[in-house]
Order: sequence, then structure tokens, then C-alpha cells
Amino acid sequence: MLDIAFAKAVLPKSGVVVVPLTEDAELAGLAAGLDKALDGRLAQALKAADFTGKKGQSVNLPGPGAGLKRVLVLGLGKKDALNPRSAEEFGGSAQLALVKEESAVILADTLDAALAAHIGLGARLRAYTFDKYRTTQKEDEKPKLSALKIILKDAGLATADYAKLAAVADGVELTRNLVTEPANVLYPEEFAIRTEALKKLGLKVEIFDKKALEKLGFGSMLSVSQGSAREARLVVMQWFGASGPSPNGKKGRKLKEPIAFIGKGVTFDTGGISIKPAAGMEDMKWDMAGAGTVTGLMAALAGRGAKVDAVGLIGLVENMPSGTATRPGDVVKSYSGQTIEILNTDAEGRLVLADVLYYAQERFAPKYMVDLATLTGAIIVSLGQEHAGLFSNDDGLSEKLLAAGKATGENLWRMPLVPVGESYDKNLNSPIADVQNIGSGKGAGSITAAQFLQRFVNGKPWAHLDIAGVAWTSKDGPTTPKGATAFGVRLLDRLVADNFEG
Ligand code: BES
Ligand code: MN
Ligand code: ZN
Repeated sequence: MLDIAFAKAVLPKSGVVVVPLTEDAELAGLAAGLDKALDGRLAQALKAADFTGKKGQSVNLPGPGAGLKRVLVLGLGKKDALNPRSAEEFGGSAQLALVKEESAVILADTLDAALAAHIGLGARLRAYTFDKYRTTQKEDEKPKLSALKIILKDAGLATADYAKLAAVADGVELTRNLVTEPANVLYPEEFAIRTEALKKLGLKVEIFDKKALEKLGFGSMLSVSQGSAREARLVVMQWFGASGPSPNGKKGRKLKEPIAFIGKGVTFDTGGISIKPAAGMEDMKWDMAGAGTVTGLMAALAGRGAKVDAVGLIGLVENMPSGTATRPGDVVKSYSGQTIEILNTDAEGRLVLADVLYYAQERFAPKYMVDLATLTGAIIVSLGQEHAGLFSNDDGLSEKLLAAGKATGENLWRMPLVPVGESYDKNLNSPIADVQNIGSGKGAGSITAAQFLQRFVNGKPWAHLDIAGVAWTSKDGPTTPKGATAFGVRLLDRLVADNFEG
């Protein structure tokens, strides 16, 4: 793991030094001192390279003198456009440029402590790897960078800021680990067992097995797992951050107006009897990203001691075809009491969420509910990988989510949602049950799915994030190596921090 530390601003006399420079910025502070120690060769090199400080620009000086191994100048972009997100992107690009070094020092004496802390976060997020199944990886293929020191005047302040961000990074890493695991390793029971590790952060974790879910009446969710040899699980994770200290061991405590986060956890989605084509089916191991994100988010909130009452609920199932699988045309009874005609067994995520959403609002009376789900391929057609789809019955909640998206770079785009009984919703009326699980019209697949969910939120304030296009990526991003992104952990942590703490 990459160790990030902050220390006071003293020019290093050896090793690798990184100089962040904004556009048109003169060499100032330690950078000016460095240039002097190098007899002006730093300024000369920047001039020769036409370095202007634009994002992504870099000038590399190997063996520059003054006892140093290497000086790397990296562009920070426009000074007045500096913000936590651009600092993170800088940290990510520094990590990438330095992977072959063992350690490096970043001169951050011209930046404030908060930006320095976010540089650390970006580097840490970009350094993520998942190698547990590689047995033949050679030493020189592994990233070497293990320590990054960021130096500035307010090192103490930056250390305190970073401690909170590191808890969020821990949550992101937990999510990435869960989401990346293959489905033969991470099936519902195993996923549930892994959530028990969150107890040590002060969360209350409850696991409902198949028998308990049958007793509750989760007929919709259980119809998805009935074809699989792996049994379903529901996990409920409670964080009493506003209403008092750790609840472990204390019975009868109740969350006060919590924010509820609900995740789709299909550990593998074959489509069931409405089976998917073979090409690309391996991607459906990611179909539990919503649940992975909710789990990492709860760890982040607890890890940084967020002053909020929150609850995470994840519905865990595997969707397989077999002699016991649900058939197209089957009718099941959901936890809400509404009956559902299942016309397509590949529209299974909504069947899971229907029961978990209804349960969440009934048991916890949350102030707001937010669900995350890799719900539809159609959202990738609409929004690609740039935005997740936001569907909500509450304008205030939508505004808060959109703002948190802008701040973290985990961007959302609001999509239509109409009241029950109107246009898009009407396509869900079944000839023989209360509702059918796919629309009878053509098109608008993501909206139809959201409309289906809306029938199970009992009119409560709620938002649905369709993360099918953003949960994993096939190309490296500034703070996200290719693979699981953990999209939503930082977004929803920010939603909480900006709106629901104090
Ligand atoms: N898990 C899929 C959605 C998905 C597709 C996520 C591609 C990520 C990438 C979901 O369960 C699904 O199969 N949805 C169907 C719905 C359809 C049957 C109405 C879809 O999108 O095709
Ligand atoms: Mn499906
Ligand atoms: Zn699915």
C-alpha cells in the first residue's frame, strides 16, 4: 500500500522531488530554492520545454544535481481553477509518473493544507491494485512506489484532513475489492460474511438468510435466487453517528431519521431462463457493484466518524437458470404485498430492489433513500461512461446529489420519472398481476426500470442511481485504475458531509 505522509517544508537533499506548478506561475517558495540549488537549471529546463503549467504537462530532470536523483515538474492547471478534485487528479498523475520510484517528496508549500490532503487522496486512489490471484507476477511488473511525502507549512492541518480522506479511501478500496472478486469466490453468503468485518468500525451488522427472508415475505427477491445453488442474503448495516456512540451489544437502539442507502447485489447475472448471450457475460460479475458501493460507503462513514445516522441495506442473490429457476410468466408476491408478473428473468435487479426498498422505508422511516444499481444496459446507451443516471421523486434530494457529483467528479445526469399511473409508468401494468417487471412499450429501458422501483418506495423521498455505465471501466482514469471504480462511495460520502452532519 502507498503510505502518504505530511511533513514540514524543508528542501530535500536527496531522492526524488516533485514540483507542482500552476499555469504561468513563477518558481516560488521551495521550488525557487530548488532552482537556486540547481544553479538555475530547473528554470532553464522549463523554458526549453515550453512548460506552461497546463494539466498533464510534465518536465523530467534525471540526475539534476544537488544530490537529487530526479526532479519532476507537473502541471497543476489554472491557479483559480484549483479545487479538491483537481488536486486529486494531480496526485493521481504524480503516482502514475512515479510508480517505478520507491519514494518521493512533493513540494506543496505554495498550496493550502486541504489541497495537499487531496493530492494525497488522489495518489492513494490511483495506486490501487488487485493482485491476489497473480502467482507469476515478476518483481519488476509490480508498482514500487510505497511512500509519498507531501511537504508544506501546515503539515499538521493536512495530516488531520488526510485522516478523514484516508477513511474514505479505505471505503473505496473495500468496494473495489468486493466488486472485483470473481463470482465463484464472492457469492451472497460470502459477501455477507465479509460485511461482518465492519463491526469493528462500530457498525451494527445484521444478516438475514434464506429462511429469514422467506419468513419476512421477500417473494420478489427470492424469485431471483431460486434457480441458484447459492442462497440469498439481506445485509443491514446501521451507523449511529448522530445519535450516539457505538451501538454494539446494546439492544433496542433506533436510528433517528437515517439516510438509507440500498444496493443491488447480484453476485452474478446470467439472465436466468431469459439467458444472456455468451459474449461479454463475464462482465456480469460486476452486477453487485451497487451493494459493494453501499458497503464501502458505510465503512467510509464509520471510519471517519460521520455525525449522521445512516443505514445500508444490500440484497444479495445469484441469478442462474436451472430446474428450479423462475420462468417467464411466473407471478410472485413481493414484500410490499404487490404481485409481480415476471416477463423477463433478466430484469432481476429491480426484483431485488423492490423488496429491499419497501423494507427499508417501512422499518427505518428514513429521511431519504438512495439506491445504487447496475440496473440497465440502456443507461449506457443514454449516458455512456460519463454520468450515472439519476432518477428521483424529490427535487431537493436531486439538487444535493447533483452538487455532490460535481464536487467529487462522480457525475450524475437527471433523467425523467413520472408519477405512478402516468405515461412511462402505465407500461408496467400487467394483465394478470399488480405490475409486470418489464414495460410493454418499446424503448426508455432505464426510465421504465426506475418507474418499476418507484412502485415500491411507498411515496417516500428517494433517488435511484443507475450505475451500469460507471461501475467499472476498461481504461485508466486520473484517480481510477481500470477495473472497479467504486463510483458512488465518494459521491455519497460528500452528500452526507455537505448536507446531513450537524
Ligand atoms: N445487470 C443488467 C444490466 C447491465 C447490463 C449492467 C450491462 C451492466 C452492463 C440487468 O440485470 C439487465 O440484464 N437488464 C436488462 C433489462 C431488460 C431485460 C429489460 C437489460 O438492460 O438488458
Ligand atoms: Mn439482468
Ligand atoms: Zn443484473
